[in-house]
Amino acid sequence: MKFKSQKIAYHFFALSMILLILQIIYGFILGFAHMGYDGLHELIAFNTAVTTHKNLLVVWILSGFMGAAYFIIPDEADNELFSVPLAKLQFWSFAIVGVVAVAGFHVGWWEGRKFLEIPRPLDWLVALNVILFLVIILLTQIKGRKSSTTSWVLIMGLVFAALLYLPGMIYFDNISVDSFFRWWVVHLWVEGVWELIMGGILAYLLIKITGVDREVIEKWLYVVVGLTFISGILGTGHHYYYTGGPNYWLMIGGIFSALEPLAFLGMTVFAVQMYRKGNKKHPNKLALYWTLSTAIVSFLGAGLLGLAHTLPQVNLYTHGTLVTAMHGHLAFWGAYASLVLAIISYSMPLMTGRKIFDNRNGNLAFWCSNIGMIAMTTAFAAAGVAQVYLERIAGYDFMTTAIEIQPHFFVLILAATLFTIGILFFISNFLKFGRPTDEEMREEEEFEALNTAA
Ligand code: HEM
Ligand code: HEM
Ligand SMILES: [Fe+2]
Repeated sequence: MKFKSQKIAYHFFALSMILLILQIIYGFILGFAHMGYDGLHELIAFNTAVTTHKNLLVVWILSGFMGAAYFIIPDEADNELFSVPLAKLQFWSFAIVGVVAVAGFHVGWWEGRKFLEIPRPLDWLVALNVILFLVIILLTQIKGRKSSTTSWVLIMGLVFAALLYLPGMIYFDNISVDSFFRWWVVHLWVEGVWELIMGGILAYLLIKITGVDREVIEKWLYVVVGLTFISGILGTGHHYYYTGGPNYWLMIGGIFSALEPLAFLGMTVFAVQMYRKGNKKHPNKLALYWTLSTAIVSFLGAGLLGLAHTLPQVNLYTHGTLVTAMHGHLAFWGAYASLVLAIISYSMPLMTGRKIFDNRNGNLAFWCSNIGMIAMTTAFAAAGVAQVYLERIAGYDFMTTAIEIQPHFFVLILAATLFTIGILFFISNFLKFGRPTDEEMREEEEFEALNTAA
């Protein structure tokens, strides 16, 4: 690690781990409720649990992105972080706003707009916090001695993500108009600007892990960014099919969103090619696994399972069903959750000086969580297809259908248990690393570790 200030990333990664565990606990509450065991209903009703589950997800992923930026930007800019005390202030205020938001959901302080449930007063605090974060990152880069495509793609992703939060803060009293702009946040985040963040972090990891020339990797990055914008912006139309907007969205949304998997395919080919070209044998196998799995599983979850329900003829039946949950789980897992786990796996040895590169717990974490999540996705798919058939084709009512599909949630719980075991192994490694120390490792030493091991 080049700069001591990069260690601030640890705080954000630790927060991610805590929130991930909480998210999983709420996932189990939801899974059991779907099975018919909704014992906590009086305390935590289904809508409270699902909102908490999704918002915890968004907050831990954002915390991971922030940690990643604090680790990567000083390294790419060749400069200490602009201000560590300010970054600490930003961390604590972010954590406090996140905790207050989640606690508020349990006492009815929210807005019922999926994914944007945080109430407006808290939205303003989020906005302030993100501005502080961006100022620190931008000043670090601008005052830096170097500048790279990788760091600018990452920074642009973060800046656009902040700007795109704003359309969700405007008040509309017409629900169709409100829904129209809600998608500017939700869709243009995950299928637009977050892909820039993903491209930036993946490029950084690939440069470090494979040793392929920066120029080659950054050329690919342009291709990925181009594909994302060409398909993703008008791809928003796949949320406008039947929501009260004009008919032309059926055509525009159908065509452009069907192109979106290309961006994810580009990401996969990019990572796999760079790995094959790589001339360095990096000792950090766990970081390599997570980097490659991010590129591959995001294509499966976002690309293929997105394509599965993106055409208007299909979405007419599947909209808002468990088919959406099937895609939502594998897409978020593959693209963004795995990405955060990849940068954590890469940076922790450097921040703490501990060479946990390829141990049993780390391997079990990787395989159990990935196999568990693929199995969960399959359970959601089976439940979703049955739900669509019974409810939307055979015409049973919502609750009759919900009871019919309960057995699929038994399978979901089994798969989720395997997934959770994987996450617990990951966290046990995280704890084994301990806190960042002054005996942190330099990158050259990482390779020395390999040479002596080989
Ligand atoms: C062990 C863990 C988990 C279980 C048992 C679980 C279960 C569930 C259930 C039952 C729902 C509600 C589906 C519905 O009726 O609408 C849900 C929603 C959701 N979960 Fe999970 N989940 C788990 C972990 C995760 C993880 C790790 C992620 C992200 C990587 C995730 C992402 C989501 C998303 C995005 C939704 C909203 C889906 C939609 O839009 O329809 N979950 N989860
Ligand atoms: C990493 C990228 C992606 C993530 C994290 C993601 C996640 C999600 C989530 C959470 C939802 C539910 C949103 C809500 O109801 O508020 C959703 C909906 C949807 N996604 Fe994705 N997605 C991604 C990429 C894609 C791609 C590339 C496609 C198309 C090829 C796609 C197609 C769709 C469609 C059609 C819906 C609407 C489902 C419905 O009508 O209920 N997604 N996605
Ligand atoms: Fe979308």
